[in-house]
Amino acid sequence: MQIVSISSLKGGVGKSSVVLGLASAALEARVPTLVVDLDPHGDASTALGVHARAGQDVGSVLRRPRKGGLAAVAAPSPWTRHPITPEVSGTQQDPGWQPAGSPAVGRPVLDVAPGSAASSHLDHAAFRTKDLKRLETVLHGLERYELVLIDCPPTLSALTRMAWAASHMVLSVAEPSLFSVAGTKRTMSALAQFETSRIWAVPDAGVVVNRFRDGSDEQHHRLRELQELFGQLVVDPVLPDAPVVQQAQGAAWPVHRWPGTAASDLAGRFSSILQGMLH
Ligand SMILES: Nc1ncnc2c1ncn2[C@@H]1O[C@H](COP(=O)(O)OP(=O)(O)OP(=O)(O)O)[C@@H](O)[C@H]1O
Ligand SMILES: [Mg+2]
Repeated sequence: MQIVSISSLKGGVGKSSVVLGLASAALEARVPTLVVDLDPHGDASTALGVHARAGQDVGSVLRRPRKGGLAAVAAPSPWTRHPITPEVSGTQQDPGWQPAGSPAVGRPVLDVAPGSAASSHLDHAAFRTKDLKRLETVLHGLERYELVLIDCPPTLSALTRMAWAASHMVLSVAEPSLFSVAGTKRTMSALAQFETSRIWAVPDAGVVVNRFRDGSDEQHHRLRELQELFGQLVVDPVLPDAPVVQQAQGAAWPVHRWPGTAASDLAGRFSSILQGMLH
Protein backbone atom coordinates (compact mmCIF):
# COMPACT_ATOMS: atom_id res chain seq x y z
CA MET A 1 0.00 0.00 0.00
CA GLN A 2 1.34 3.37 -1.07
CA ILE A 3 0.28 6.27 1.21
CA VAL A 4 0.59 9.73 -0.34
CA SER A 5 -0.13 13.11 1.30
CA ILE A 6 -1.12 16.01 -0.94
CA SER A 7 -0.01 19.02 0.98
CA SER A 8 0.90 22.71 0.84
CA LEU A 9 1.21 25.32 3.52
CA LYS A 10 -0.46 27.76 1.16
CA GLY A 11 -4.24 27.65 0.72
CA GLY A 12 -6.15 27.43 -2.55
CA VAL A 13 -3.28 26.15 -4.74
CA GLY A 14 -5.13 23.00 -5.80
CA LYS A 15 -4.43 20.30 -3.19
CA SER A 16 -7.98 18.94 -3.30
CA SER A 17 -8.04 19.23 -7.09
CA VAL A 18 -4.86 17.14 -7.34
CA VAL A 19 -6.34 14.54 -4.98
CA LEU A 20 -9.46 14.39 -7.19
CA GLY A 21 -7.46 14.12 -10.42
CA LEU A 22 -5.29 11.33 -9.00
CA ALA A 23 -8.38 9.55 -7.62
CA SER A 24 -9.91 9.75 -11.09
CA ALA A 25 -6.71 8.34 -12.63
CA ALA A 26 -6.62 5.53 -10.04
CA LEU A 27 -10.24 4.67 -10.76
CA GLU A 28 -9.53 4.52 -14.48
CA ALA A 29 -6.47 2.32 -13.90
CA ARG A 30 -8.44 0.18 -11.40
CA VAL A 31 -6.05 0.80 -8.56
CA PRO A 32 -8.05 0.16 -5.35
CA THR A 33 -7.89 3.54 -3.62
CA LEU A 34 -8.93 5.22 -0.37
CA VAL A 35 -9.15 9.02 -0.19
CA VAL A 36 -8.68 10.30 3.36
CA ASP A 37 -10.09 13.79 3.70
CA LEU A 38 -8.19 15.43 6.52
CA ASP A 39 -9.36 18.92 5.66
CA PRO A 40 -12.16 20.03 8.01
CA HIS A 41 -13.82 21.74 5.03
CA GLY A 42 -14.31 18.35 3.35
CA ASP A 43 -13.99 19.67 -0.23
CA ALA A 44 -12.59 16.43 -1.67
CA SER A 45 -15.38 14.40 -0.02
CA THR A 46 -18.02 16.70 -1.52
CA ALA A 47 -16.56 16.39 -5.02
CA LEU A 48 -16.33 12.60 -4.61
CA GLY A 49 -20.02 12.55 -3.63
CA VAL A 50 -19.52 11.29 -0.08
CA HIS A 51 -20.91 13.19 2.89
CA ALA A 52 -19.97 12.58 6.50
CA ARG A 53 -22.72 11.42 8.83
CA ALA A 54 -22.49 12.34 12.50
CA GLY A 55 -19.66 10.42 14.10
CA GLN A 56 -18.78 8.71 10.79
CA ASP A 57 -15.87 10.90 9.70
CA VAL A 58 -12.10 11.01 9.87
CA GLY A 59 -12.08 13.36 12.87
CA SER A 60 -14.17 10.97 14.98
CA VAL A 61 -11.88 8.04 14.13
CA LEU A 62 -8.76 10.04 14.96
CA ARG A 63 -10.24 11.03 18.29
CA ARG A 64 -10.28 7.38 19.41
CA PRO A 65 -7.67 5.71 17.19
CA ARG A 66 -7.48 1.95 16.88
CA LYS A 67 -5.90 -0.22 14.21
CA GLY A 68 -7.79 -0.19 10.92
CA GLY A 69 -10.34 2.23 12.37
CA LEU A 70 -10.85 4.09 9.08
CA ALA A 71 -12.57 1.04 7.56
CA ALA A 72 -15.65 1.82 9.67
CA VAL A 73 -16.19 5.23 8.06
CA ALA A 74 -14.92 4.62 4.51
CA ALA A 75 -17.78 4.80 1.99
CA PRO A 76 -17.72 4.03 -1.75
CA SER A 77 -17.67 7.06 -4.02
CA PRO A 78 -20.52 7.26 -6.54
CA TRP A 79 -17.74 7.88 -9.09
CA THR A 80 -17.41 4.10 -9.34
CA ARG A 81 -20.92 3.97 -10.83
CA HIS A 82 -20.43 6.74 -13.38
CA PRO A 83 -21.08 5.45 -16.85
CA ILE A 84 -19.08 6.62 -19.79
CA THR A 85 -21.69 8.95 -21.27
CA PRO A 86 -22.37 8.54 -24.99
CA GLU A 87 -20.80 11.93 -25.75
CA VAL A 88 -17.70 10.85 -23.91
CA SER A 89 -17.11 7.53 -25.59
CA GLY A 90 -14.13 7.80 -27.86
CA THR A 91 -12.59 10.59 -25.76
CA GLN A 92 -12.28 8.47 -22.63
CA GLN A 93 -8.70 8.43 -21.48
CA ASP A 94 -6.96 5.12 -21.83
CA PRO A 95 -4.53 4.95 -18.94
CA GLY A 96 -2.31 2.84 -21.17
CA TRP A 97 -1.01 0.72 -18.31
CA GLN A 98 -2.26 -1.46 -15.53
CA PRO A 99 -0.39 -1.89 -12.27
CA ALA A 100 0.68 -5.44 -11.55
CA GLY A 101 -2.01 -7.50 -9.90
CA SER A 102 -4.85 -5.03 -10.47
CA PRO A 103 -8.16 -6.70 -11.18
CA ALA A 104 -9.19 -6.40 -14.82
CA VAL A 105 -12.88 -7.04 -14.07
CA GLY A 106 -15.32 -6.35 -11.24
CA ARG A 107 -16.40 -3.15 -9.62
CA PRO A 108 -13.47 -0.75 -9.09
CA VAL A 109 -12.71 0.38 -5.55
CA LEU A 110 -12.66 4.08 -4.73
CA ASP A 111 -13.61 4.74 -1.11
CA VAL A 112 -13.65 7.97 0.84
CA ALA A 113 -13.07 8.50 4.55
CA PRO A 114 -14.99 11.77 4.70
CA GLY A 115 -13.77 14.95 6.26
CA SER A 116 -15.84 17.23 8.45
CA ALA A 117 -15.49 20.04 10.95
CA ALA A 118 -15.04 17.30 13.56
CA SER A 119 -11.34 17.07 12.68
CA SER A 120 -10.72 20.77 13.34
CA HIS A 121 -10.59 20.21 17.12
CA LEU A 122 -7.50 18.07 16.56
CA ASP A 123 -5.70 21.10 15.21
CA HIS A 124 -6.27 23.15 18.32
CA ALA A 125 -5.36 20.54 20.88
CA ALA A 126 -1.84 20.41 22.30
CA PHE A 127 -0.32 17.35 20.68
CA ARG A 128 2.40 15.06 21.93
CA THR A 129 4.72 13.36 19.47
CA LYS A 130 3.04 10.01 19.97
CA ASP A 131 -0.33 11.52 19.03
CA LEU A 132 1.05 12.14 15.55
CA LYS A 133 0.92 8.36 15.03
CA ARG A 134 -2.88 8.40 15.12
CA LEU A 135 -3.45 8.42 11.37
CA GLU A 136 -0.84 5.72 10.84
CA THR A 137 -2.64 3.60 13.42
CA VAL A 138 -6.10 3.96 11.87
CA LEU A 139 -4.70 3.14 8.41
CA HIS A 140 -2.97 0.04 9.68
CA GLY A 141 -4.07 -3.20 8.06
CA LEU A 142 -6.37 -1.74 5.39
CA GLU A 143 -5.00 -4.25 2.89
CA ARG A 144 -7.91 -3.78 0.49
CA TYR A 145 -6.30 -0.62 -0.90
CA GLU A 146 -3.19 -0.24 -3.05
CA LEU A 147 -3.22 3.53 -2.79
CA VAL A 148 -4.20 6.01 -0.07
CA LEU A 149 -4.48 9.70 -1.00
CA ILE A 150 -4.58 12.13 1.93
CA ASP A 151 -5.98 15.61 1.33
CA CYS A 152 -4.31 17.90 3.89
CA PRO A 153 -5.39 21.26 5.31
CA PRO A 154 -3.25 24.27 4.25
CA THR A 155 -1.46 24.66 7.56
CA LEU A 156 1.44 23.03 9.36
CA SER A 157 -1.04 21.72 11.87
CA ALA A 158 -1.20 18.54 13.88
CA LEU A 159 -3.40 17.11 11.10
CA THR A 160 -0.77 17.79 8.43
CA ARG A 161 1.96 16.32 10.62
CA MET A 162 -0.16 13.23 11.25
CA ALA A 163 -0.52 12.87 7.48
CA TRP A 164 3.22 13.23 6.86
CA ALA A 165 3.98 10.76 9.66
CA ALA A 166 1.74 8.17 7.99
CA SER A 167 2.98 8.74 4.41
CA HIS A 168 5.47 7.11 2.07
CA MET A 169 5.36 10.17 -0.17
CA VAL A 170 4.45 13.84 0.23
CA LEU A 171 3.42 15.83 -2.82
CA SER A 172 3.49 19.59 -2.36
CA VAL A 173 1.23 21.49 -4.75
CA ALA A 174 2.51 24.79 -6.15
CA GLU A 175 1.19 27.39 -8.55
CA PRO A 176 3.81 29.10 -10.70
CA SER A 177 3.45 32.44 -8.87
CA LEU A 178 5.72 34.38 -6.52
CA PHE A 179 3.71 33.71 -3.36
CA SER A 180 3.20 30.07 -4.18
CA VAL A 181 6.93 29.51 -4.82
CA ALA A 182 7.54 31.03 -1.38
CA GLY A 183 4.82 28.77 0.07
CA THR A 184 6.47 25.73 -1.53
CA LYS A 185 9.84 26.66 -0.01
CA ARG A 186 8.13 26.82 3.39
CA THR A 187 6.43 23.48 2.83
CA MET A 188 9.59 21.69 1.69
CA SER A 189 11.73 23.08 4.49
CA ALA A 190 9.06 22.17 7.05
CA LEU A 191 9.09 18.67 5.57
CA ALA A 192 12.90 18.50 5.77
CA GLN A 193 12.77 19.68 9.39
CA PHE A 194 10.07 17.11 10.18
CA GLU A 195 12.36 14.42 8.80
CA THR A 196 15.36 15.55 10.80
CA SER A 197 13.43 14.64 13.93
CA ARG A 198 14.48 11.14 12.73
CA ILE A 199 11.35 9.75 14.24
CA TRP A 200 9.79 9.70 10.78
CA ALA A 201 11.33 9.49 7.39
CA VAL A 202 9.25 10.42 4.36
CA PRO A 203 11.16 8.47 1.69
CA ASP A 204 9.76 10.38 -1.23
CA ALA A 205 8.67 13.92 -2.01
CA GLY A 206 7.60 15.85 -5.07
CA VAL A 207 6.35 19.25 -6.18
CA VAL A 208 3.26 19.19 -8.42
CA VAL A 209 2.91 22.36 -10.47
CA ASN A 210 -0.75 23.30 -10.92
CA ARG A 211 -2.64 25.98 -12.88
CA PHE A 212 0.23 26.53 -15.31
CA ARG A 213 -0.57 29.02 -18.10
CA ASP A 214 1.65 28.32 -21.07
CA GLY A 215 1.13 31.78 -22.58
CA SER A 216 2.50 33.65 -19.55
CA ASP A 217 6.20 34.65 -19.40
CA GLU A 218 5.87 35.24 -15.68
CA GLN A 219 4.61 31.67 -15.17
CA HIS A 220 7.46 30.24 -17.27
CA HIS A 221 9.87 32.24 -15.09
CA ARG A 222 8.29 30.85 -11.89
CA LEU A 223 8.34 27.32 -13.29
CA ARG A 224 12.10 27.66 -13.99
CA GLU A 225 12.52 28.98 -10.46
CA LEU A 226 10.74 25.93 -9.03
CA GLN A 227 12.93 23.66 -11.18
CA GLU A 228 16.11 25.42 -9.98
CA LEU A 229 15.00 25.17 -6.36
CA PHE A 230 13.69 21.63 -6.35
CA GLY A 231 15.32 20.00 -9.39
CA GLN A 232 14.21 16.40 -9.90
CA LEU A 233 11.50 16.79 -7.31
CA VAL A 234 9.38 18.85 -9.71
CA VAL A 235 6.83 16.40 -11.08
CA ASP A 236 6.45 16.01 -14.84
CA PRO A 237 3.99 16.75 -16.41
CA VAL A 238 2.70 20.05 -15.03
CA LEU A 239 -1.06 20.62 -14.76
CA PRO A 240 -2.59 23.41 -16.84
CA ASP A 241 -4.99 26.08 -15.70
CA ALA A 242 -8.18 24.74 -17.28
CA PRO A 243 -11.86 25.59 -16.77
CA VAL A 244 -12.68 21.89 -17.08
CA VAL A 245 -11.21 21.34 -13.59
CA GLN A 246 -13.97 23.43 -12.05
CA GLN A 247 -16.64 22.08 -14.38
CA ALA A 248 -15.92 18.45 -13.50
CA GLN A 249 -15.66 19.28 -9.79
CA GLY A 250 -18.95 21.21 -9.90
CA ALA A 251 -20.66 18.16 -11.36
CA ALA A 252 -18.86 15.81 -8.88
CA TRP A 253 -17.57 13.90 -11.90
CA PRO A 254 -14.19 12.22 -12.52
CA VAL A 255 -12.15 14.14 -15.09
CA HIS A 256 -11.34 10.90 -16.93
CA ARG A 257 -15.04 10.59 -17.76
CA TRP A 258 -15.59 14.23 -18.72
CA PRO A 259 -16.08 15.00 -22.42
CA GLY A 260 -13.76 17.04 -24.60
CA THR A 261 -10.11 17.33 -25.46
CA ALA A 262 -9.22 19.62 -22.52
CA ALA A 263 -10.51 16.96 -20.09
CA SER A 264 -8.77 14.23 -22.03
CA ASP A 265 -5.44 16.12 -21.92
CA LEU A 266 -5.78 16.77 -18.20
CA ALA A 267 -6.80 13.17 -17.52
CA GLY A 268 -3.69 11.95 -19.37
CA ARG A 269 -1.49 14.17 -17.20
CA PHE A 270 -3.00 12.83 -13.99
CA SER A 271 -2.58 9.26 -15.26
CA SER A 272 1.11 9.94 -15.99
CA ILE A 273 1.66 11.38 -12.52
CA LEU A 274 -0.08 8.39 -10.94
CA GLN A 275 2.02 6.00 -12.97
CA GLY A 276 5.19 7.76 -11.77
CA MET A 277 4.00 7.50 -8.17
CA LEU A 278 3.24 3.81 -8.29
CA HIS A 279 6.42 2.69 -10.06
N1 LIG B 1 -5.67 23.41 -12.76
C1 LIG B 1 -6.73 24.16 -12.43
N2 LIG B 1 -7.40 24.87 -13.37
C2 LIG B 1 -8.47 25.62 -13.04
N3 LIG B 1 -8.95 25.73 -11.79
C3 LIG B 1 -8.33 25.05 -10.81
C4 LIG B 1 -7.19 24.23 -11.07
N4 LIG B 1 -6.78 23.68 -9.90
C5 LIG B 1 -7.63 24.14 -8.96
N5 LIG B 1 -8.55 24.96 -9.49
C6 LIG B 1 -9.64 25.65 -8.76
O1 LIG B 1 -9.05 26.49 -7.77
C7 LIG B 1 -9.83 26.48 -6.59
C8 LIG B 1 -8.94 26.02 -5.42
O2 LIG B 1 -8.57 24.68 -5.67
P1 LIG B 1 -8.56 23.59 -4.49
O3 LIG B 1 -9.79 23.69 -3.67
O4 LIG B 1 -8.23 22.29 -5.12
O5 LIG B 1 -7.32 24.14 -3.66
P2 LIG B 1 -6.84 23.69 -2.20
O6 LIG B 1 -5.36 23.88 -2.16
O7 LIG B 1 -7.36 22.34 -1.89
O8 LIG B 1 -7.57 24.77 -1.29
P3 LIG B 1 -7.64 24.78 0.33
O9 LIG B 1 -6.31 25.27 0.80
O10 LIG B 1 -8.77 25.74 0.61
O11 LIG B 1 -7.93 23.38 0.76
C9 LIG B 1 -11.01 25.56 -6.85
O12 LIG B 1 -12.11 26.33 -7.25
C10 LIG B 1 -10.54 24.69 -8.00
O13 LIG B 1 -11.60 24.22 -8.81
MG1 LIG C 1 -8.52 21.69 -0.29
